[in-house]
Amino acid sequence: AAAEKGGFPSFMAKEIHDQPQAIADTLLGRTDAEGRLQLDEMKISEAELRSVDKIVVIACGTAAYAGQVAKYAIEHWCRIPVEVELAHEFRYRDPVVSDRTLVVAISQSGETMDTIMAVRHAREQGAKVLAICNTNGSTIPRESDAVLYTHAGPEIAVASTKAFLAQITACYLLGLYLAQLRGNKFADEVAEVLAQLHEIPAQVREVLDGLEQVREIARYMADTRSVLFLGRHVGYPVAMEGALKLKELAYIHAEGFAAGELKHGPIALVEPGQPVFVVVPSPRGRDSLHSKVVSNIQEVRARGARTLVIAERGDTAVEPFADVVIRIPQTSTLLSPLLAVVPLQVFACELATAKGLDVDQPRNLAKSVTVE
Ligand code: G6P
Repeated sequence: AAAEKGGFPSFMAKEIHDQPQAIADTLLGRTDAEGRLQLDEMKISEAELRSVDKIVVIACGTAAYAGQVAKYAIEHWCRIPVEVELAHEFRYRDPVVSDRTLVVAISQSGETMDTIMAVRHAREQGAKVLAICNTNGSTIPRESDAVLYTHAGPEIAVASTKAFLAQITACYLLGLYLAQLRGNKFADEVAEVLAQLHEIPAQVREVLDGLEQVREIARYMADTRSVLFLGRHVGYPVAMEGALKLKELAYIHAEGFAAGELKHGPIALVEPGQPVFVVVPSPRGRDSLHSKVVSNIQEVRARGARTLVIAERGDTAVEPFADVVIRIPQTSTLLSPLLAVVPLQVFACELATAKGLDVDQPRNLAKSVTVE
């Protein structure tokens, strides 16, 4: 087993390290000589894809957060409404789907029973189902109309890391493909985003190489009882995924919140010493989201929180209010989750390791939940 871990202390540590490759492999071979996206496995016809008037993403756990990230990108590029729903909720609430609905089922294993049941239900209602899956020939792709495989390689650790980044990448390929196909006004952006996407593996590597400070903080925080995570826009699902990793691996009570919601409730939780991670949007983004989130850091800090801030390199505005600044390279807002989540994965993994826990097999969890 030591050899399989490639010199890392756990499968999880190895899989976090393998993320640049997982993204690169998921991008590989999916553009033609002219740089246009070409998805050979896309067995749903172009005419059918052009007629899609709604996308519903169904998934569980980490895969559902990949869907939540994808919603922001696909709606922006394609102007198609995207709903994201936990598969077990979708299945039992009489959802409104038609033959113009594209259901996207995201699953690392392809064997999650809740997601399988939702896929069956969607197809019975006449929807087309596209699977985004990491496991060749598993049940979900077999029961779907088409599949877009993530090429993250086998994921052994129970909590998902590299599959998550590969799922976001595959969702982005789908969104860009639909934009290209439908030729709408955002089609010009396709080539530009694809070029940025190809930079991401090297940037993830850069993030991974600069995390000694995060590891040290994680070890030092081994006795922490509760951690909050705030994010806005695509940073919101990143915050929820950061909280999920900490629950799963370190058994610490953790919650991810939309930063804008802070004043509507969660700020009541903040007391002196409370650690709060904040995922900060790029200062180069539109809509002044950056300054709003910087205000949120200020608000929790004023109430005694210990602020751990994930911010783009060069973003000096966060410095006065951050106890710790964790830097990520510059990219577009929509691609930033692929970088911002990495320090949160490493934080949870390192903290759990410091507590002496088995990060590959957390208590009470299964890699693939094959019962409803
Ligand atoms: C389990 C795993 C999670 C995973 C979820 C969905 O709960 O512990 O890490 O995110 O299932 O799994 P899937 O294979 O469908 O992506």
